Amino acid sequence: MTKAVSLFTGCGGSDAGIIKAGFDVVLANDILPYARDVYLANHPETEYVLGSVTDIETFPNAELLLGCYPCQGFSQGGVRDPSRRINTLYLEFSRALNQIQPKAFVVENVSGMVRKNFKHLLEDQFRVFEEAGYRVKAEVLTASDYGVAQDRKRIFIVGLRNDLGLEYHFPKPTHGENASLDKVTIRDVIGHLPEWPEGEFYDLDFHWYYMSRDRYKAWDQQSRTIVANPRHMPLHPSSPPMIKYEHNDWRFEYDGNARRFSYREAAAIQGFKDLIFPDSPAGTLNMRYTVVGNAVPPPLFEAVVKALPDMWG
Ligand SMILES: C[S@@+](CC[C@H](N)C(=O)[O-])C[C@H]1O[C@@H](n2cnc3c(N)ncnc32)[C@H](O)[C@@H]1O
Repeated sequence: MTKAVSLFTGCGGSDAGIIKAGFDVVLANDILPYARDVYLANHPETEYVLGSVTDIETFPNAELLLGCYPCQGFSQGGVRDPSRRINTLYLEFSRALNQIQPKAFVVENVSGMVRKNFKHLLEDQFRVFEEAGYRVKAEVLTASDYGVAQDRKRIFIVGLRNDLGLEYHFPKPTHGENASLDKVTIRDVIGHLPEWPEGEFYDLDFHWYYMSRDRYKAWDQQSRTIVANPRHMPLHPSSPPMIKYEHNDWRFEYDGNARRFSYREAAAIQGFKDLIFPDSPAGTLNMRYTVVGNAVPPPLFEAVVKALPDMWG
């Protein structure tokens, strides 16, 4: 099997995708204990190092390196400050890239990285990856185009080692109007789950910020983006739809039971298949949502990796 090293692994959305594509993850790493617990409950065979990537001195050999370094700085939901230290963790990824020199690498990050005030950081990522000896390409992809029941847009950066003389082409959509398959809907992935899973969803008030935008999508649509912060989690389709009252002021169309997606539903909407959530001390309700919302939808990562040229031989 072709070996892969996974950095900023989280609970393993990206890894579930590459494992399905036939790779063997020889090292995974993250700083979050519950991300490690979930990962190992689902992929017990992987060596998962818990701690900061900055503490890993030597990385094992591999043909593929993947890493979705944190995105708080770029994200719509995070603090948009281009100078934050967390925005330079790509230099740690680059350190691993220079050391391992895999045939290819794949990075995923929030699409906000293409915004004007972050452009210098994106350009710097291209620069350090090109200096490491890679031909680099980036594209923003929409998860629902690849069989995920969610309108999630993310940037992918893919590099192929120069000496291979190969070119990467991002995968064409497999689902939707210009593809052979219909888009996957919310109903397709959570329609079979209990309608009111007490204890598995965040049920604090719908505060003003929550009500400042539309959080609703119907059963036969694709979900709004599954985020890491449970307060901002989209509504379950059994909730009343929302209507615009004024600028930044939305209301429920009628009185009725409204609730956010549960963490288990959020995982299914991300494209995980029956993700196991172990009961461990770190596994609070909020943390379950966090690791799921941080994840890359496995089918999307799988599509990006499967589009790599066949060069593993
Ligand atoms: C966008 S998430 C990655 C999601 C993951 N690829 C997945 O699909 O599940 C970024 C991850 O980086 C981790 N992280 C942040 N700082 C780190 C550090 N210094 N060392 C290792 N991991 C770190 C966070 O805990 C978070 O899980």
